[in-house]
Amino acid sequence: MGKIGVIGCGYVGLVTGVCLAELGNDVVCGDIDQKKIDGLSIGISPIYEPELQPILEQNLRQEKVSFTTDLDQVIREADILFIAVGTPTTAIGTSDLSQVNSVIDRIVSTAVDEKIVVMKSTVPVGTGDKFCQFFGCNGLSHISYVSNPEFLREGQAVHDFMVPDRVVIGGGGSGAVERIAKLYDSFEVPFIYTSTTNAELIKYASNAFLATKISFINEIANLCDEVGADVSVVAEGMGHDPRINPYFLRAGIGYGGSCFPKDVKALKQLAGHNGYHFELLSTVIEVNEMQKTRPVQKLRKHLGELYGRNIGVLGLTFKPHTDDIRESVGIDVVKLLQFEGARVIAFDPLGMDHAKKVLTGVEFVGDPYKVADGVEAIVIATEDPFYTELDWQQILEVMANPLVIDGRNILNPDSLPEGIILDQIGRGVRIVSSGSDYRDTQDVALNSLRKAS
Ligand code: UDX
Repeated sequence: MGKIGVIGCGYVGLVTGVCLAELGNDVVCGDIDQKKIDGLSIGISPIYEPELQPILEQNLRQEKVSFTTDLDQVIREADILFIAVGTPTTAIGTSDLSQVNSVIDRIVSTAVDEKIVVMKSTVPVGTGDKFCQFFGCNGLSHISYVSNPEFLREGQAVHDFMVPDRVVIGGGGSGAVERIAKLYDSFEVPFIYTSTTNAELIKYASNAFLATKISFINEIANLCDEVGADVSVVAEGMGHDPRINPYFLRAGIGYGGSCFPKDVKALKQLAGHNGYHFELLSTVIEVNEMQKTRPVQKLRKHLGELYGRNIGVLGLTFKPHTDDIRESVGIDVVKLLQFEGARVIAFDPLGMDHAKKVLTGVEFVGDPYKVADGVEAIVIATEDPFYTELDWQQILEVMANPLVIDGRNILNPDSLPEGIILDQIGRGVRIVSSGSDYRDTQDVALNSLRKAS
């Protein structure tokens, strides 16, 4: 069996390369970032991904995986070349394909023998067709092209690679699809063999659908706040219908991350460029933007003007168990609070170093209890179970106001100390008391705070 090359050692490339080595292949991974490659060569992963570290170290030791900045070496040595470079969003919402194009150029100029190019990067629908046409028209019949989109969730990426829901392989010609399918032949899951165009669209449509589901439940949550319903019960009731299913029905303050925001925008743009106005996606994006403002709206209701107020924020990454702050709602919440003139004290278990690079004027504290010190409210911005385990009595004692805006509905009012005013997304406002919970008590909460201040 020939060697596998992976070009791009970001999230997707690194997980792909190391997991392919774990499956028994010889893998060489290339990236132009010298620092990253130096670290990886001695087993230091540039990303925080829980299950990656041990298999990285083990496969390095067994010399099943290696890392280099010499991309020509990767192209020469490997006969299967996975492309996993970034496809960021441009200012006009399209995908920037410059990194993909430059890798393809390099393959074209370096490859002399048979190569299978496997696209892991999320590329606009039609990209595979264009490359295939280009190879065909330029006498490059030794290069085959296959689209093999990834569906990796950060924090569970190794699991998602090793135990996928499905494998999608788009393309054809000269046994390429069969060779790629063979890499995954230990996976007992549905394999979808199709055109590159279908494969590319499966990736976008999957992410856009999940984002739509989140925006939908978030709108239901906002309605719940108005009519006195509880979105967690509503979502549970909906989720028992197998046509709906219970996943991705967690209401909150919006989706973030390196995939959903980028892919939904790119799909909308792609539709537009092909003459179709994808109206639903415009709304999904707009709902998500508005949802990020919910904490500020709720704080204003409780506290009035936010200018000069001290607000604590727990959670700066786009989701728990990662240090990734790309398109993080927590970061946007901090910026929105600062825009209102509030002073922000923030904590995140993993993302503070990255957050410090993009936020100014924030007091970062290394201890979640310090976030509470003297603040008039706390906003929870990530669904990190760590926050449910905090000693909320201790927090309550040092807060200036007992107000908690739980932007991810992770706190259970029954486990909170008496006196906390808990405002969740689509679950109304509750003042936790020993006797009973006050449901839908916006006015009670508001008045109690105004009296207190
Ligand atoms: C996602 C897709 O799940 C994955 O298949 C794809 O290949 C890459 O994008 P990821 O970006 O790691 O993975 O995050 P995910 O766990 O899906 O969550 C994305 C965002 O949605 C987070 O900000 C999360 O807080 C939010 N979310 C998720 C909700 O608000 N509600 C939910 O019910 C689920």
